Amino acid sequence: MSDLLAKYKRFTVTAALPYANGPLHIGHIAGAYLPADIYVRYLRLRKKEVVFICGSDEHGAAITIRAKKEGVSPKEIIDKYHVLMRDTFDKFGISFDIYHRTSDEIHHHTAQDFFLKLNSQNEFEVKESEQYYDEEYGQFLADRYIQGTCPNCGNEKAYGDQCEKCGSTLNPTDLINPVSTLSHRKPVLRTTKHWYLPLDKYQKWLEEWILGTKQEEWKVNVFGQCKSWLQGGLLPRAMTRDLDWGVDVPLEEGKGKKIYVWLDAPIGYISATKQLFEELSTQQPKFSNPDLLNAQFPPFINPQANDWEKFWKKQENPEEEACLLHFIGKDNIVFHCIIFPAILKAHGEYILPENVPGNEFLNLEGDKISTSRNWAVWVHEFLQDFPEKRDILRYVLCAILPETKDSEFTWADFKQRNDSELNAIFSNFIHRVLTLTYKNYQGVVPNVVGETDEMLKSAFREIYESVNKIHENIEQFRFREALFEFINIARIGNRYLTETEPWKLLKTNPEEAQKVLFASLQIVAKLTILARVFLPDTAEKLTEMLNLSEEDIAWENLHFKAVTLKPNHIIKEPTPLFTNIDPELINMEIEKLHKSKAENQPQEETLEPVVVPPQKEFTTFDDFQKMDIRIARILEASYVPKSDKLLQFVVDTGIDKRTIVSGVAEHFKPEELVGKQVLVLLNLPPRKIRGVESQGMILYAGDHTGRLHVIHPETDGVNEGASVN
Ligand code: 2FM
Ligand code: ZN
Repeated sequence: MSDLLAKYKRFTVTAALPYANGPLHIGHIAGAYLPADIYVRYLRLRKKEVVFICGSDEHGAAITIRAKKEGVSPKEIIDKYHVLMRDTFDKFGISFDIYHRTSDEIHHHTAQDFFLKLNSQNEFEVKESEQYYDEEYGQFLADRYIQGTCPNCGNEKAYGDQCEKCGSTLNPTDLINPVSTLSHRKPVLRTTKHWYLPLDKYQKWLEEWILGTKQEEWKVNVFGQCKSWLQGGLLPRAMTRDLDWGVDVPLEEGKGKKIYVWLDAPIGYISATKQLFEELSTQQPKFSNPDLLNAQFPPFINPQANDWEKFWKKQENPEEEACLLHFIGKDNIVFHCIIFPAILKAHGEYILPENVPGNEFLNLEGDKISTSRNWAVWVHEFLQDFPEKRDILRYVLCAILPETKDSEFTWADFKQRNDSELNAIFSNFIHRVLTLTYKNYQGVVPNVVGETDEMLKSAFREIYESVNKIHENIEQFRFREALFEFINIARIGNRYLTETEPWKLLKTNPEEAQKVLFASLQIVAKLTILARVFLPDTAEKLTEMLNLSEEDIAWENLHFKAVTLKPNHIIKEPTPLFTNIDPELINMEIEKLHKSKAENQPQEETLEPVVVPPQKEFTTFDDFQKMDIRIARILEASYVPKSDKLLQFVVDTGIDKRTIVSGVAEHFKPEELVGKQVLVLLNLPPRKIRGVESQGMILYAGDHTGRLHVIHPETDGVNEGASVN
């Protein structure tokens, strides 16, 4: 496995440009931004030249769908969310050098120049094809505007570009029973001309490059997805679309068409890097981090506008070439591992990604995170609810990153990890060492006397091993394990204190106590240096408490012989870094989550097309007569405990009062239904659902959005118990 830090001095780190169409949740952070930020902080600590690039993706159907839903223009949507997302990243401490946006002029030019260059090199195939058109709305339909049945798994809500159930990538014409999500009608096929990237021509090269050289390097989940795509055979992909929102195709015969977001968005990384150096060279930060103007490290010393090329283009001297890394979520793997590299290769002047550390998905409290159902922990809300506690969320998310498979966030685990790891291990060790020093030596680091004993040597050997493992794990994008080793250093420190008991030695053997505290203080210093990677606020607090300077907390001081806190150095009064979280706060978060979900019915994003199912097989009159369907009235309704899907009702059937359970909690609030007449199938055998016996079934009808409705008689004159036949 190659050691990227040994091989490269310069790094271009990108994090997927998020669509500016909604607030950020913890799933976004765990997918790409936190691992990218940890990696970049590590590179900076190792004094590498690094640019950390991100920004808003402002084109594509995700934006136009949101705009349509809110009844405003795409521009209003992106302006609102660009600012919210940028500020949230900033407040959460994701340390981008620039947070750009794809609506910026420099991006339109960069994407168009790229397109023209590929076109002039005949890299595109221009083909006429039939594409879906919505006659009522008078427009060609973006892939996301078409829904239908997935040919692979039968999911009736697959999109024209992807089935989110089985994960297969689709073309709109693959869908069975396609329906336009604009008019809810069947779209028609119309001929249109588009510019295709012939991915089939790159198949062999991609196989050699990925299958031949990346198996050891790329994460298993990333490599696996690429392999199965390559095995499936690559097909030409249209790089233009008939849309009215996006970057114009810069050709006369492409008038009215836009560059597809798959070409547009990743070029956004290049535009952002250009913009970064443009701003730095003119000293006018607009999208870039203003602190960079005072930075005293390369590449920000005396920056030139064309320095961006060092981070993207091939160099005559390979030692000068940058290492390109794309941090993304799993839905973008193919896009960054196959399509974008083919685009870069076709251009010819650009470097290729060295690695694409893609993460899987983060679930929340047993369910998929969902924006439309409001099943999410929103980062801007977390920052309000837990002021000054972002390091805890960074820590917990890092500990559970979905690195090779989906993982899960729960509030109980959040509290548990804070209380038993950050507080009980990390904070406890540091606080014990610092208070002993502060109280017994008035904060003055003691002089070491005597020889180093075996116990101390072995603690330092173990710590050194953990430091090495942190390096190896970060190098392989295994941040969870790296974090474990980080906490392990505090664990070793605690063990050393328990073994040596310096609080007793202070009375019985003061010289020995000095030695133990001197050594423990050096461990605290090492934790401070490493906290710069994982817990930036804590690193800052510790640097302040220890009264250290920027040079003191350098990587070199992790060496086991390094002495960071020298004898006679004076530390400040310590305060605890972490404390236990109040369980009430956690309960409030859980309540908030369940409450907001109940209030938020699925909206247009989960819109179901009006696909009228075909008639079922013939039944018999006798069979129908066997079903005892009656009018009943709902007397009581409540949530089934510990379930967010089930409601339980007491209904008056005219014969008796009985309990019925239905899986409709996402569709109704219980109180909405009390007093309503409904249709009930009475003679369904009783069944226990979540411990509640359900004696029958209430019948519902679904509308075109997938929402359920109860069915009742048109007039008030039909009594409970009346048969329906
Ligand atoms: O999936 C997404 O969030 C898109 N905005 C694409 C992100 S990757 C891109 F920036 F290349
Ligand atoms: Zn499917």
